[in-house]
Amino acid sequence: MSLPPGFLDELRTRTSLSQVVGRKVMWDQRKSNQGKGDMWAPCPFHQEKSASFHVDDRKGFYYCFGCHAKGDAVSFIRETENVGFMEAIEILAREAGMPMPAPDPQAQAKTDRRAQLAAVVEQAVQFYRLQLQTGAGAEARAYLDRRKLPQASRDRFELGFAPDNRHALWNHLKSKGIAPDLILASGLAATPDGGGEPYDRFRGRIIFPIRDARGRAISLGGRAMDPNARAKYLNGPETELFDKGRSLYNHGPAREAAGKGKPLIVAEGYMDTIALVEAGFTAAVAPLGTAITEDQLRLMWRIAPEPIIALDGDNAGLKAAMRVIDVALPLLEAGQSLRFCLLPQGQDPDDLIRAQGAPAMQRLLDEAVPMVTLLWRRETEGRDFDSPERKAALDKTLRATLTLIKDPSIRGHYGEAIKQLRWDLFGTRRPGPNQSPNAPRPQGARKKGEWKPPILPALQSTKNSLLAGAPDDRVTEHLREAIILATLAVHPRLIHRFESALERIDFTSRDHDRLRSALLRHADAANFREKIYEDAGQALETLFSLPHVLIAPPVRNTEDAELATMCLAEDLAKLEAGRGVLKEIRDAAEDLDGLADEGVTWRLSQATDARNRAGRTSNEDAADLGEDRAALSRALQNLIDTQTWVKKKG
Ligand code: UTP
Ligand code: MN
Repeated sequence: MSLPPGFLDELRTRTSLSQVVGRKVMWDQRKSNQGKGDMWAPCPFHQEKSASFHVDDRKGFYYCFGCHAKGDAVSFIRETENVGFMEAIEILAREAGMPMPAPDPQAQAKTDRRAQLAAVVEQAVQFYRLQLQTGAGAEARAYLDRRKLPQASRDRFELGFAPDNRHALWNHLKSKGIAPDLILASGLAATPDGGGEPYDRFRGRIIFPIRDARGRAISLGGRAMDPNARAKYLNGPETELFDKGRSLYNHGPAREAAGKGKPLIVAEGYMDTIALVEAGFTAAVAPLGTAITEDQLRLMWRIAPEPIIALDGDNAGLKAAMRVIDVALPLLEAGQSLRFCLLPQGQDPDDLIRAQGAPAMQRLLDEAVPMVTLLWRRETEGRDFDSPERKAALDKTLRATLTLIKDPSIRGHYGEAIKQLRWDLFGTRRPGPNQSPNAPRPQGARKKGEWKPPILPALQSTKNSLLAGAPDDRVTEHLREAIILATLAVHPRLIHRFESALERIDFTSRDHDRLRSALLRHADAANFREKIYEDAGQALETLFSLPHVLIAPPVRNTEDAELATMCLAEDLAKLEAGRGVLKEIRDAAEDLDGLADEGVTWRLSQATDARNRAGRTSNEDAADLGEDRAALSRALQNLIDTQTWVKKKG
C-alpha cells in the first residue's frame, strides 16, 4: 500500500517522539528539560547507566552519544518493536489517532476476503485443538507423550488433532454458518474428483497451525501418526491467504525473539522449530514443506542480518545447504548473509536436543560456519588438486561462483576468504605459523599477565554504523585507528599483509604508536598475546575499554579472518585516503591473483570519494593534528567515562 502525499508529514507533526520513546526509557529528570523538548535517558539500544541518549522533541530526532544510534519516531518503533516500515507507520498512526488511508476498493475487497478466510482457518484451529482433548484424541496425546512434547509446547504452538473422519471439520464449519465456498477456498476441505460432498483434507493427523507474521491463521500442517501413512507431513494447499514460499512457520514469535537478541535459526520442519523454541532458541523458524525460497530469505533478513541455517549433517542436508547457497548468493549485501550449522549425521535439531540437550545445540550454533566455507567444501571435498590443470579448473569454478554475487564489496570479501582457503590447501603461502583459520586456536593454560580480548554480548547498536555518526572528526579518526589496532591484535596473521600501510599511519596518540610497534615486532611470535601485553599492556587495556572497539565486528568475530581483512582494508583506506598512500593499501589487500580486486578497489574509491567530498586535503589534516590533540583526549575521556557499562579493569 502506498501512502498519500502529506500523510507522513502530518503523522510526524502529530507524533511526540518523547512520548513514543518515553514508554521504553526512564528519563533522567535532572538532565532533561521538558519545556524545551530536550530529553535525556539511558540509551535503550545499548546497556548503560548514564544518560547519553538524547531526544529533541521539537525536531523529532534522537541521537545517542554513546552508541550513535539515531533516527526518528519511525526508526525508533522499527528498532524497538522489530517491525517493518509500514507496520511502524500503522502503530504510530493508531497512537496519533490518524486513520490509515483507505486502500482502493478492489484492494479493500481482497483484504476483506482474506480476513474472512483467516477467520475460517482460525475456527479450524480452535476445532482441532478441542479434538486433541477428546476421547478420540487419546491416541494423538499418547503420540505426543511418546515424543516427549511438554504441555507448554502443545499450548504455545496450539497443536490440535484431526480425527480420522472425512467430514468432521466440514460439518463443524457448516454448522457455524460458514459458506461452503469459503471453506473450500481455505483449502481445509476439497471436493472429490468425481463430485459429491466435500471431505476434510486432514484426517488422523496432529495439526500444526500456521500463522503469518501478524499472527493471523493462514493454514495448517498435519503429521500422520500412522507410520505407513502416504505422506508423513501434509500442508494446506496454496490459497489466496497462504503463499508457501512467502511464509515461515513461527514467523511472528521468532521475529519478536530476534528483536530481543536471540539468534534467528532456520530449521527444516515443525517439530524442529518446536524443539528449538522449547530449548530456549526462541527465534526459530522453518519453511513449509518446500525448499527455502528467495522470498523466505528476504523475510529472514528483515528479521536478522545473519540467520543460521540448521541442517542435517548428512548428504541430503548438505545438498539442501547448497541449494540455499545458490538462492542466496545473488542476494548477498552488507548485513545480509547466512551461516550454516551442521548437525551430526542423520540428526535434526529435535533429535539432537532430545538426545543431548540445549547446551549441545548451543555448541553447534557457536560453530556455525559462514557460507564461504560450505562453498569451498562443495568445490574441494573429496578431490585432488595435484596438477596445475586441476588447480586452474578449481580457480575457474570458484571465479564463476563468485560472479553470482552481485554486490561488489561482498564479492571482494568472498574472494579474500577463498584466497586464504587456497593458501591453506595448496600451501603456497602461509603468513604466520600455526594460524590457519581452520586450525583450532591455540588454547593451552593462560599464563599470568596474558591478555585476552573481552567478549561482550551483541548490541542492537552494532547494526548501525559505528563511525558514521561520530560527533567529531578527530574522535572518529582516533576510533578508527583503535579499531584497526584492535583488529590486528585479535588477528595477528593479518599483520604482515598490512604492514606497509600500518607503518605509514600518523597515529593520533603515543599509545597507538606503541601498540603498532608491539604488533609489528611480535607478529610471528608464538606467544603473541603475552608479548604485546609485555610491550604495551596499558595501551592495550585502554584500547579494549573503548566500547566502539569492543563491538566492532572484526574485533568481536575473532574467527572471521575474511571479515577482518575487508574491514582493515576499508578502515585503513579511509584513514589514509586523505594522505595519499592509497597504493600500499591496495597492494596489501590485493597481492594475489585478483579475485578481490574489484571489491577492494570499489571500496577504496568510495572511501576516497567520501574524503574528497568532505573537501579536506592532506596538508590540512596534518596541520590540525597537533592542536586538536587535547580536545581529542578530552572527548575520548568523556566517551569512556559515560560508558560505565564497560567493565573497567582494576
Ligand atoms: P522430515 O521428514 O525431516 O521430518 O521433514 P521431521 O521434521 O524430522 O519430522 P518428525 O520428527 O519425523 O516428525 C521435515 C519437514 O519437511 C516437510 C515438513 O514440513 C517437515 O516438517 N515434509 C516432510 C513434508 O512437507 N512432507 C513430508 O512428507 C515430509
Ligand atoms: Mn524429526
